[in-house]
Amino acid sequence: MLAGKKIAIGISGSIAAYKIIHLVRLLVKQKAVVKVIMTPSARDFVSPLTLSTLSKNEVLIDMASGNTWANHVELGRWADLLLIAPLSCNTLAKMAQGHCDNLLLSVYLSATCPVMVSPAMDEDMWQHPATQKNIGILKKFGHTVLAPHHGELASGLIGEGRMEEPEMILAHIQSFLGDTTDKSLEGKNVLVTAGPTYEAIDPVRFIGNHSSGKMGYALAKECRRRGATVTLVLGPAPAVLEQDLSDITLIKVTAAEEMYQACMDHFESADIALMAAAVADYRPAAVSDTKIKKQESGLELNLVKTRDILAALGAIKTNRQVLLGFALETNDEEAHALEKLHKKNADYIVLNSLNDGAAFGADTNKVTVFTKTGEKFGFASKSKQAIAKDILDIIVKTDITTI
Ligand code: CTP
Repeated sequence: MLAGKKIAIGISGSIAAYKIIHLVRLLVKQKAVVKVIMTPSARDFVSPLTLSTLSKNEVLIDMASGNTWANHVELGRWADLLLIAPLSCNTLAKMAQGHCDNLLLSVYLSATCPVMVSPAMDEDMWQHPATQKNIGILKKFGHTVLAPHHGELASGLIGEGRMEEPEMILAHIQSFLGDTTDKSLEGKNVLVTAGPTYEAIDPVRFIGNHSSGKMGYALAKECRRRGATVTLVLGPAPAVLEQDLSDITLIKVTAAEEMYQACMDHFESADIALMAAAVADYRPAAVSDTKIKKQESGLELNLVKTRDILAALGAIKTNRQVLLGFALETNDEEAHALEKLHKKNADYIVLNSLNDGAAFGADTNKVTVFTKTGEKFGFASKSKQAIAKDILDIIVKTDITTI
């Protein structure tokens, strides 16, 4: 998919630099041509020899080596994309201000290709107003910013600032540079649900789950890439999922009932509905207007069932509409998935089993897709972006609506 694409990767000084070794391998596997430029301090974190061996190209660090001058203008014009990852706080500030005291910055300033950055830093540095201002400047320059994630940081603290994982950076590059000739969903309206739902207990508490929303997000973007008009109904997922949604109609909801209403409002005009949300099955029967005070005795919550959105859409769907659901199972996986497929009148069900390493929040997953006509498609573990592509390929190829 990236065969022949020319990607310049700029590495700045951050411990996350070690992950770029894996990214370079992934890109080379995709037959992309990769050239690496490092800031002098990046050399402390990762070996140029490793990167030059993997990329099969000399790694550039200094403006001049021996009698040779590194032609930064040529490199910025050669690349189809300049990715700066990890982007340190220092390099970010210099980019925002137009400083040019190393080779990477001079390549950046003279680049005529699109620029993508993947910041990595400690949470306090990331959240500092100066850093946020600089990120805002890069966005104004038109650069794509892959927002960092919440997780364990090099300092040992847990917080926001973790660089995007290599598989996801690859997925972003693919959707940025990838095949734009695939218009297999041109003219189709697609409705996608993603993320968890939160069911309020009182003004400060809720019942929720760990769904990250990444699978639905990947599906929405893949449909958009194929030319569909996409509506994404998104539960309370991390803000990172709101980036890069140009041309996708985003409806943000909190509770299952809101998600149900949004889906009912948009289903009639949908040709395809992909239900990837982890909808809460129960909600408190009554929501307290005031904060429930701690009592000496325990607290019993009376829960009532939420409406099943997939089943509700299955009950009203017409022959021209395609409906796909997910099933997360821990035991008797295939039987339970098939039961959901038929009971909810879906056309496809995507099984992910906790026994296969499926995990909320992970960037990769291993799925099996079942169709209502009895077909079964198994896949190896891969990125959610790649899974989204496989799922859409199956829908396009099997075209169950005509059966
Ligand atoms: N789903 C839904 N509305 C609900 C519950 C689930 O639309 N209230 C959808 C999910 O989006 C998913 C599918 O139904 O596409 C299966 O969800 P899952 O949680 O695996 O199954 P449940 O039907 O909730 O059954 P259980 O939790 O008992 O496995």
